[in-house]
Amino acid sequence: MFGRRRHYDHVLRVLGLFGMGFALFLLARYFMIPGDFGVYGFYRAGALDDVKAQAPLHAGEALCLDCHSDVGDLRKEARHAKVRCESCHGPLATHASGDVTAKPVALNPRRLCIQCHTTQIGLPANFPNVVPDEHAGDLPCTDCHQPHRPKIS
Ligand code: HEC
Ligand code: HEC
Ligand code: HEC
Ligand code: HEC
Repeated sequence: MFGRRRHYDHVLRVLGLFGMGFALFLLARYFMIPGDFGVYGFYRAGALDDVKAQAPLHAGEALCLDCHSDVGDLRKEARHAKVRCESCHGPLATHASGDVTAKPVALNPRRLCIQCHTTQIGLPANFPNVVPDEHAGDLPCTDCHQPHRPKIS
């Protein structure tokens, strides 16, 4: 009979709506996901080439020592020998490639040291730490410590 409704029609309409929504989602997903996604894992395979194409920012300590062997000699057996050059001086690939117009930035001789040498979560308990104001007043740390061989006595 015309116009006769089944008691579950409203449920079918809602299911129909969900179905349309899901189909729309699959369609959008199809167009938005790059073709090479998931070839190797949960990332875009082409991202590997994108990253490889970037110029490296760090040169590595071995290269620094080619030209700055005096600093290397000073650091031998100093406890700072285990801190890599670019941890303090920042990434210097351009400078180290021989382009010495790319001068390293001057470091702050107090803020730099405090970054590593005040008590902080994650450092071993026996790490050589100071309370900067009690230890040094407002003097730059490098007034007394040579940064490449910091032990005084
Ligand atoms: C190809 C040789 C070369 C390499 C490799 C090199 N440098 Fe240099 N560096 C120089 C020269 C030349 C100067 C300028 C010296 C001067 O002006 O007295 C310099 C100056 C510096 C200065 C002092 C800047 C200033 O204001 O006085 C720092 C710090 C420095 N280099 C750090 C590094 C670090 C760290 C590395 C490794 C990532 C490195 N260098 C690699 C040649 C090199
Ligand atoms: C703990 C931090 C630290 C590390 C590690 C470090 N430096 Fe330095 N370096 C300094 C500071 C601080 C200065 C002096 C201030 C400035 O550069 O502005 C300096 C100065 C220099 C200078 C210029 C004056 C000088 O003393 O000869 C050169 C060149 C240099 N560093 C090269 C190097 C190289 C090469 C390495 C690694 C073998 C290295 N540094 C590791 C902190 C550091
Ligand atoms: C990137 C972190 C870092 C920075 C920045 C840094 N240090 Fe250190 N420092 C260390 C580490 C690591 C040690 C060795 C700790 C160990 O052997 O357990 C150390 C050791 C020392 C010691 C003990 C030396 C000894 O032989 O007993 C002194 C003093 C010191 N640093 C002073 C300085 C000064 C001054 C500056 C700034 C010019 C500075 N540090 C910047 C990481 C850093
Ligand atoms: C007025 C001189 C002076 C100044 C400035 C100074 N120190 Fe020292 N510092 C010393 C002396 C002296 C010692 C003890 C001798 C040694 O072991 O080198 C020492 C020791 C240290 C130690 C080793 C502590 C340990 O437990 O072994 C650290 C780390 C240190 N200083 C960091 C700093 C930092 C960071 C600054 C800047 C905020 C700074 N110092 C400024 C004179 C100074």
